[in-house]
Amino acid sequence: MNIGLIGSGGREHALCKKILESKLTNRIICFPGNAGTSKIATNIDVDILNFKEILRLVRIYKIDLVVIGPEEPLVKGLTDFLKKNKIKVFGPNKYAAQLEGSKAFMKKICAKYKIPTAKFKICSKIKDVHNFLRKCDLPIVVKADGLAAGKGVTICKTVKQTLNISSKIFNGKFKSSKKLILEEFLDGEEASYFLVVDNKNYKFFGTAQDHKRAYVNDKGPNTGGMGAYSPAPIINKLVEKKIIERIVKPTLIALKKKRKSYNGFLYVGLMIKNNEPYLIEYNIRMGDPECQVILPRLKTDLVKIIENTASNKLKDINIKWKKEKSMTIVLCSKGYPGNYRKNCKINNLSKIKLSKKNFLYHAGTKIKNKQYVSNGGRVLNITSLGTNFLEIRKEIISIIKKINWKNGFYRKDIGWRIINKDANN
Ligand code: AMP
Ligand code: GLY
Repeated sequence: MNIGLIGSGGREHALCKKILESKLTNRIICFPGNAGTSKIATNIDVDILNFKEILRLVRIYKIDLVVIGPEEPLVKGLTDFLKKNKIKVFGPNKYAAQLEGSKAFMKKICAKYKIPTAKFKICSKIKDVHNFLRKCDLPIVVKADGLAAGKGVTICKTVKQTLNISSKIFNGKFKSSKKLILEEFLDGEEASYFLVVDNKNYKFFGTAQDHKRAYVNDKGPNTGGMGAYSPAPIINKLVEKKIIERIVKPTLIALKKKRKSYNGFLYVGLMIKNNEPYLIEYNIRMGDPECQVILPRLKTDLVKIIENTASNKLKDINIKWKKEKSMTIVLCSKGYPGNYRKNCKINNLSKIKLSKKNFLYHAGTKIKNKQYVSNGGRVLNITSLGTNFLEIRKEIISIIKKINWKNGFYRKDIGWRIINKDANN
């Protein structure tokens, strides 16, 4: 099969490597990919929101199946567009993609189906904000309704801050929507639960915990994710049952009632307290960097899983996992998530030799004058498999030290919570 892969992050490099392992794969074309994918696939530089151009290229390269990594093309309807043109696609349709694309859409389903989530109010004017403030204690979480590239959520400790952020959103701070959601603040431990879903079935696709803050001790601004580990031990069998029964099943029923089914990866973002899971968000794709810790643990052929799902035959496949644990640390450009320089050489990268349990995924990289250079905020993801999270982290840090990239920084405390728990047991 010729497979088209949309996206350019660490997630897509991890998907690309796993797709390449399959006997079913003939050729992989990445739209647009990164320096890592360019070594194992064909990169085509294209705007992933230019659907007509993507269709033209899919036809030229005789692509049999398109896998969509990031949320934006999904939310804007790339799946629907390609399917209408008789192309096989893995990734949810535009309607289902609203689970991530509109927090109001997601919250309305929660209200209708009594899915456990933070108390909330969908607001379109400042009067709604005042009303909610009277009913809910501080802190209050303000969320832009539409896609906001990870910048749409603010935890507000004062009434003034809540009103200030809300006015900015009403005034069009985020182009995707002028509505916002106010939520009660949930206390607990965050974890992510992944599924692969077709129109009749769903299957478990791993758990993970990521670290969103930029600096050690979970300090500093929010980022796309500075590192992750899998599995997430807080998701025990009891919690998993509750996630499926109270959150996943009613959501899939809600979509079916509208005659819209789901196809693709589903990322359930949770807050867990005393074994009670609350839905914080849905993402309609794999997480980044969660994908980079989940895929190395996968035993089953990924292309078989994707192909069966896209053909609504997920039932016929048994997904198997390695027992080993995994962790990834994100090597970022200094300054990220604020301003940072691009085009900085990463000299040692081509010299790094890895054993089979280690993985080096490119994210914001490109090749310029035959040299690897940085091309984004999150630049490389170093993943390792093992039996003990502390040992895994040491291994990753030793690789980062070999890369010795002067323009980079990373968090040395990824997995602190689980490592401390392990130490106390
Ligand atoms: P979201 O985009 O909805 O995932 O929110 C981004 C981050 O904000 C989450 O990963 C949480 O860390 C935090 N967050 C969102 N909603 C809440 C909430 N209701 N209570 C506490 N923290 C939240
Ligand atoms: N790491 C969080 C996300 O992919 O949304």
